Amino acid sequence: MWQLQPSLWIFLVLLVPSIRAAYEDYRLPRSVEPLHYNLRILTHLNGTDQRFEGSVQIDLLARETTKNITLHAAYLKIDENRTSVASGQEKFGVDRIEVNELHNFYILHLGRELEKDQIYQLEMHFEAGLNNSQSGYYKSNYTDVVTQEVHHLAVTQFSPTFARQAFPCFDEPSWKATFNITLGYHKNYTGLSGMPVLGCQDHDSLTNYVWCNHDTLLRTSTYLVAFAVQDLENAATEESDTRNRVIFRNWMQPKLLGQEMISMEMAPKLLSFYENLFQINFPLAKVDQLTVPTHRFTAMENWGLVTYNEERLPQNQGDYQTQKDGFARTVAHEYAHQWFGNLVTMKWWNDLWLKEGPSTYFGYLALDALEPEWSRGERFIARDLANFFSKDSNATVPAISKDAKDPAEVLGQFTEYVYEKGSLTTRMLHKLVGEEAFLQGIRSFLGSYSFTNAAQADLWKSLQKAAPQNEVISSEFNLSRAMDSWTLQGGYPLVTLIRNYKTGEVTLNQSRFLQEQEVDKDSSCWWVPLRFVRQMLPDFDQTTPQFWLECPLNTKVLNLPHLTSPDEWILLNPQVATIFRVNYDELNWRLIIESLRYDPQSGGIHKLNRAQLLDDLMALAAVRLQKYDKAFDLLEYLEKEQDFLPWLRAIGILNRLGALLRVEEAIKFKNYMQKLLLPLYNRFPKLSDIAESKLAIKDIPFANFAYSQACHYHVADCTEQAKILAITHRNGGQLELPSDIQKVAYCSLLDEGGDAEFQEIFKLFQNSSNGSQRRILASALGCIRNFENFEQFLNYTLKSDEKLLSDCHMLAVTTALDREHLVSQTENYILSHTKPLGEKFKKKELTGLLLNLAANLQTSEEIDRLEAHLKDIKEFNEPLQKALHQSKMNQKWRKECTSDFIEAVEKHL
Ligand SMILES: *[C@@H]1O[C@H](CO)[C@@H](O)[C@H](O)[C@H]1NC(C)=O
Ligand SMILES: *[C@@H]1O[C@H](CO)[C@@H](O)[C@H](O)[C@H]1NC(C)=O
Ligand SMILES: *[C@@H]1O[C@H](CO)[C@@H](O)[C@H](O)[C@H]1NC(C)=O
Ligand SMILES: *[C@@H]1O[C@H](CO)[C@@H](O)[C@H](O)[C@H]1NC(C)=O
Ligand SMILES: *[C@@H]1O[C@H](CO)[C@@H](O)[C@H](O)[C@H]1NC(C)=O
Ligand SMILES: *[C@@H]1O[C@H](CO)[C@@H](O)[C@H](O)[C@H]1NC(C)=O
Ligand SMILES: *[C@@H]1O[C@H](CO)[C@@H](O)[C@H](O)[C@H]1NC(C)=O
Ligand SMILES: *[C@@H]1O[C@H](CO)[C@@H](O)[C@H](O)[C@H]1NC(C)=O
Ligand SMILES: [Zn+2]
Repeated sequence: MWQLQPSLWIFLVLLVPSIRAAYEDYRLPRSVEPLHYNLRILTHLNGTDQRFEGSVQIDLLARETTKNITLHAAYLKIDENRTSVASGQEKFGVDRIEVNELHNFYILHLGRELEKDQIYQLEMHFEAGLNNSQSGYYKSNYTDVVTQEVHHLAVTQFSPTFARQAFPCFDEPSWKATFNITLGYHKNYTGLSGMPVLGCQDHDSLTNYVWCNHDTLLRTSTYLVAFAVQDLENAATEESDTRNRVIFRNWMQPKLLGQEMISMEMAPKLLSFYENLFQINFPLAKVDQLTVPTHRFTAMENWGLVTYNEERLPQNQGDYQTQKDGFARTVAHEYAHQWFGNLVTMKWWNDLWLKEGPSTYFGYLALDALEPEWSRGERFIARDLANFFSKDSNATVPAISKDAKDPAEVLGQFTEYVYEKGSLTTRMLHKLVGEEAFLQGIRSFLGSYSFTNAAQADLWKSLQKAAPQNEVISSEFNLSRAMDSWTLQGGYPLVTLIRNYKTGEVTLNQSRFLQEQEVDKDSSCWWVPLRFVRQMLPDFDQTTPQFWLECPLNTKVLNLPHLTSPDEWILLNPQVATIFRVNYDELNWRLIIESLRYDPQSGGIHKLNRAQLLDDLMALAAVRLQKYDKAFDLLEYLEKEQDFLPWLRAIGILNRLGALLRVEEAIKFKNYMQKLLLPLYNRFPKLSDIAESKLAIKDIPFANFAYSQACHYHVADCTEQAKILAITHRNGGQLELPSDIQKVAYCSLLDEGGDAEFQEIFKLFQNSSNGSQRRILASALGCIRNFENFEQFLNYTLKSDEKLLSDCHMLAVTTALDREHLVSQTENYILSHTKPLGEKFKKKELTGLLLNLAANLQTSEEIDRLEAHLKDIKEFNEPLQKALHQSKMNQKWRKECTSDFIEAVEKHL
């Protein structure tokens, strides 16, 4: 009989959902709430068996009557006989313990019911080895350079879901509780947690061991709890200029003492800056900053115990100046987290962006406020915009606020994308409601949800309240609905603006901008704030919306006779406050282009808009909504562009397209680039005199850029000058030169040199003991034209086990792939060394390598070859998919756009 019995049918229906609730849901039940943890951890670092023993006593509030307690535990050996539940003196029996490994659940089935609103004490004892996987409570070590002795240390990394590997706990961000932490360890070490030590006493039985009690940590999520047992040195004790006079200590291994430490320099200043900005005092008494020899991430904002990854210090990788900018950004970001994340925490990981976005954005504001001469924040915002507009035009890109169920999905939320778009979304809010309402809304948000949790809707509400008070948006306007359209879906719109020059009417519509398909095949829409700027009154400071383009009503007709006259341009989106592209009608584009080209003040157009206009036109031409001819007409204005940002954006795009051209086309393109770059090159001092010419700090990145591009395209006497500089530098040695300029100099020397120059620089590279010098020389070695020479370098660096040399390998390959003469041989080299490459490099590095390669492949045969070689190699699997997608896009561009592009190049030569 095949038909189900009716009664059985009902039974199944009832049964299935309850199993689901318990076992398909990775979330803890809400029946009990942790209020306080007493956590004791005894750490053993001596010998080979490094481990810890601990106990935890959790005060629990029963929120409903229940006979079971579920909490998280993973990789812990729990002594079931010592697990107990009590209410004061009264002990409860534990009938049965159930372990659900997949969900990391540890479930206690009790003999009696817990009563609603009563408080109980759960006690558990456990132990585990200190692991090597940089999560939970893990071990690390360093070698003393003098004695060659290995020192061990133990430190935590709990974010996002690793606290459960160190002690049984309710490991979800919304279960905030207070913590009394007591650490036991040998007297040779210092124990740290988020709070200062109150007092220590000797261990009962272990000689030379102590137990130290730390003060109570304020209500916090488990992912922010941290502790460490270590014997690093404190480089300096500092006091911040904040109301609470916070004490900073800076722990690192002895060999780092005396080196420049950005974290040490900046942290106290950042704390004061944010305290003033947010108008909420930093609530802890101290912060220990710990530079750990090994770390899963770059840094972690643990409350009171911030950790940094020693491997990621600027002196330890890549180009020093770039890394230094990046590390400054990291430190600024971690301290913004003290408010966004630590004080106010997202309810669940779907809203990860709610801490990462604001921390990134406020980090930028802090950098520019504290060190305006570097204009780092501004450059990062411009960079994020460039990345965003290019990446987010892919159809598969996810929303920044999206559900995450299991730990793998939670970890998967931590992408650059969430940080960048999260930051741009925070910036959008800022520009949308204006300075006053924004700060008022942010302060009220932080104040209302301090020590608790919030969802993105709560942020919208705080701003919704502040904005009408400042008369920026009406109280009827539904800000939440508008903002949700930006965070709950991926992508961004293209807004098309068509003017009727007779009536003054403006017709607007929107559609999703996609690189890979017809623009109007996607029905997504956004609430787009509309702010117009007119040529007669180019006020780019006002960014609050005058109108909205609604969603789903996609076409809007506005009558703006008072706003425009027919002979002036109008521009949408001042400062690119909101993340959308704009296409204008023909005449309006012409008015904009003329104004940029012929008005000495560039029409008063803001620099971010200047960069965006270039980007938009190039992107529109790539999807054939515009002609490259128009984009190249606009590019002519660069001749008088004084600011770095538009140059950077335009040349970045041109370089990417140039790499896709065939030989004859590439020659024309090179001629064009020489013409374009010549005025820029001439604006800076002669390279051979660079050491004497005192460039302002803020001009250094711009100058580096101008020289490297000019020499790359052999503009005027750039390479000659660079060679002279390289020779003086090599002979003089003492010349202080910014690293990027050294790279340009040595690159030109090698580009035009032969075997002798190669051997000389290669020897210099091998004999140098200075990491950053080695990295500079390595990048430059990728400029050699003879592949046999280059192969010698590649063989040498690939064979080595030293991490620095692997870094150098990657740097040189990146340079080589950027230069047409070595591309195909370097590709061969990569394909015939997949095994060592796969073993040596992480997925992220291999992705970078293949994307770089794909960006320089011109024919579909080359791409097929790449696929055939790599498709069965596990390590290359994911990187390959990304590279193939990019290649497909490139092929599409080649097929559809090259002739239009080359025609425009020829016309503008
Ligand atoms: C480590 O120290 C503890 C406490 O002094 C001691 O009991 C244990 O035997 C030591 N282990 C090793 C391997 O030395
Ligand atoms: C725990 O008890 C609740 C009732 O309070 C019940 O719904 C739930 O299924 C139980 N959980 C487990 C894992 O047994
Ligand atoms: C727990 O108690 C049971 C029964 O007394 C005993 O057999 C078992 O070995 C104990 N387990 C541990 C880890 O001590
Ligand atoms: C030091 O740490 C590294 C990286 O975790 C590990 O591979 C190595 O075995 C450790 N050394 C010692 C002596 O424990
Ligand atoms: C936590 O520590 C504080 C300070 O030492 C102490 O006053 C408090 O009683 C402790 N709380 C618990 C629950 O043990
Ligand atoms: C503590 O330090 C002393 C002196 O450096 C050393 O001899 C001893 O082995 C260390 N003990 C432990 C347990 O690390
Ligand atoms: C690099 O190594 C390969 C073999 O691993 C060898 O065939 C080749 O000749 C080497 N190249 C140079 C320039 O040393
Ligand atoms: C873009 O989307 C395609 C599929 O539509 C996907 O295969 C590819 O990995 C995506 N690229 C990136 C960089 O995310
Ligand atoms: Zn962060």
